[in-house]
This record gives sequence, structure tokens and C-alpha cells, in this order.
Amino acid sequence: VNNTPFTEAEIRNYRALFPVTKNWIYLNHAGVAPISSPVLEAIHKVGQEALHHGYTVGAHWRDKVEEIRKQSAKLMGAKADEIAFVKNTSHGVSLIAQGLNLQPKDEVILSEAEFPTNLYPWMALEKKGIVLKKIPVRRGELKLEALEKLVTRKTKVISLSSVQYGNGFKLPVEEIGQFCTKHKIYFLLDAIQSLGAFPIDVAKAHVDFLSADAHKWLLGPEGIGILYVRKNLIQNIEPVLLGWHSVVKPFYFDQIHFSLHHNAKRFEEGSPNTFSIYGLGAAIDLLLEVGVERIARHILSLTDTLIDGLQKLGLVLANSLNPKFRSGIVAFRFPEDPQEKRLNALERHLFSKEIFVTVRRRNLRVSPHFYNTEQEIEILLKEVKNFLKIAQTRVN
Ligand SMILES: Cc1ncc(COP(=O)(O)O)c(C=O)c1O
Repeated sequence: VNNTPFTEAEIRNYRALFPVTKNWIYLNHAGVAPISSPVLEAIHKVGQEALHHGYTVGAHWRDKVEEIRKQSAKLMGAKADEIAFVKNTSHGVSLIAQGLNLQPKDEVILSEAEFPTNLYPWMALEKKGIVLKKIPVRRGELKLEALEKLVTRKTKVISLSSVQYGNGFKLPVEEIGQFCTKHKIYFLLDAIQSLGAFPIDVAKAHVDFLSADAHKWLLGPEGIGILYVRKNLIQNIEPVLLGWHSVVKPFYFDQIHFSLHHNAKRFEEGSPNTFSIYGLGAAIDLLLEVGVERIARHILSLTDTLIDGLQKLGLVLANSLNPKFRSGIVAFRFPEDPQEKRLNALERHLFSKEIFVTVRRRNLRVSPHFYNTEQEIEILLKEVKNFLKIAQTRVN
């Protein structure tokens, strides 16, 4: 069943904004996404201004950056004051991990299957005596019932991905937020695998910190990230990176006044990445215009078709099929394929047919976005079937 909220005309119009669709069946938004023409146009515009006018238009750029800060906040139910532009997800997670001033024996809870971005910044604290604990992952699900047992009086932070990059498990963010509030634990969300594709309201969900880069579901350029820090916690985070831009009056270069911004700008130590922020702004505008809630419904409709087709082909899904935990990531493997040789061969086969997917954590990961179509999913399934046939012929 096709449950997309979009009309055919709408999808046609959206696809026209993504010239990548002429070359590829692009199903790797959980990896690095393509950008849309509005994103390129925004970057081109600021480039043209830099080319012809240089920093004489600096005030205009700064105003625009503030506008994009507001749009970024709107996307997640935050306030502009709570948003800092950072380099990437890792940058945001590191600023919080380092800035929280955790003490020896303090505990941080992660999961068994986090992407390194949400591991290494915490592992770096182990040498200071901070203790890391991990929520187990079984059959595509984080075993959240284990959380209660993992928590002690020393638990200071729970840091998790909004969607697991390998098995696509979508975290029930509001439940974890409530749990953290009840136990007085900070809650950090690595939201790169859902921001832009699934709605989030950080205030309602009691998220304290959120970090995400633009290059996946936001459909923006690489290397520009958004860090959200809940307003009442901004003063609790010691900025570990400092510079002229960290202070209340950044442009008074000749008067030294070491007084940090009261808002999240204190985490922006130097000159902003204006070009990429422009690109990010255009990407967010497009998502807000289409509507994130509708985007989520479209993606889930595509993944319904995909899951159904893969099951019929006898493939093994790494995902939980519980609707509550479903995301934009579907991951599967062959029942018997010990060294993932067939899986890697399938990835190459699909690439040769201009279908872009990728192998992660021993599964083939497929991650469609709002401009992908049912037909594209059908073509993918057809090619998987062809591959199975070819492989069968070889065996015989
Ligand atoms: C869960 C998760 N976090 C973070 C990242 C990327 O981090 P960064 O934005 O620092 O490149 C990825 C990319 O694959 C990811 O899947």
C-alpha cells in the first residue's frame, strides 16, 4: 500500500529540485546526501557577493546567519538563543562531553551500537576516571528496559543517537527525556540520522543537548552542524574552544573584555562558515516548506514497500519491525553469507545499475528521502532479485 501524503505532481516538483535523480536512484541519505538546487543557489549567491563585494556586505551576511539560526531552532522546537553553528556532529558532542566538567567515577550511558561520533568524545574521558556503560542491542532494538538497572547515583549523562546508523532503530526520544528528567540526568541526542526526516521538539521531549550535521537527512552541505543547548544549561557548559567570537562584544577587538555570550553563541569561537550556513539555511527552508511530518510519512511509506519486498525475497532484516521504532533506514543481509561477500557484491551490482546504497555493520543499508519514489524502490527490489538469480545460476 502506498501511504505517501504527496501527490504525484508534488513529487515531480520536488524531484526537479534534485538533479541527482537524473543520474542515480539515490538511497543513501544515512550516508552522505546530495544537495538540492536551492542549496547550491544559496551558496552560489553568497559566493557571488564575496566575489564582487567582499566583506563590504558583512553586516548582511551576519543578519542572514541570525535568520538561519532562527530557522534551525524552528526545525527542532528550540529558541535561536539555544543554537550554535558547529563544524559537525562530532564537534557538538565533543563540546558537551568536554564542557560538562564530569568528575572521576561519574557515569555516562551510551548504547552498544553507537557511531564513533558518540563514542570517542566519551572514551576520551575514561582516562579521567569517567565510567561508560552501554545499553545492550538485541535484534535491532536498544533494550531500554535495561536502562533502569544501569542508572546509579553517579549517572550524569545519557547520550544516544536518535536513530541507530546500523539497524535504523528510532529512539523513543520523549520516553528517554522523561526518564532523564525524573533521574536528573543530562540527555544528549546525536540527531544526525533523523533531523530533517522525522519531527522533533527538543523542549517537549526534554532533550538537553542535540548535535547534527547537515549532510544527511537535512540535505545540506557537509561540515556544517547545529548544536542545541537547553537555555538554562548554557552557563553550565564550560566552552573548551575560545576566540574573539565567544564574547558579548566580539567586534570590540581593541578592548579586551572577557565576558562570554550568555547564549549558545559562546560555543562559536571564531569566524562563521558563512558559505555553508547559507547552504544549510536553504536546505532547512525546503524541509520546512514541504513539512517534516509529511516527509516522515512519505519515507515510512517507501520503507513499508521495501521491507515487504525484501521479506518476500527471503532476506534477513536487521531492523525492528515495531512501527514505534521505524526510521528512514532499512538494513538487510543474506541468510547465509559469512564474510559478507555476497552483500558486498550486491552493493557493487546495485552501484553498476546507478543505485546508491551502502554496507554498514554487516548489512546493506537503504535510506530513502522525500524525493524518492515507490518506482525507485521497486527498481531496487527488481535488481536485488536479479542479483539473487545471477548468484543462483553461478552456484548451479
Ligand atoms: C549516528 C551518527 N552520528 C554522527 C555521524 C557523523 O558525524 P559528523 O557529523 O561529525 O561527521 C554519523 C555519520 O555516519 C552517524 O551515523
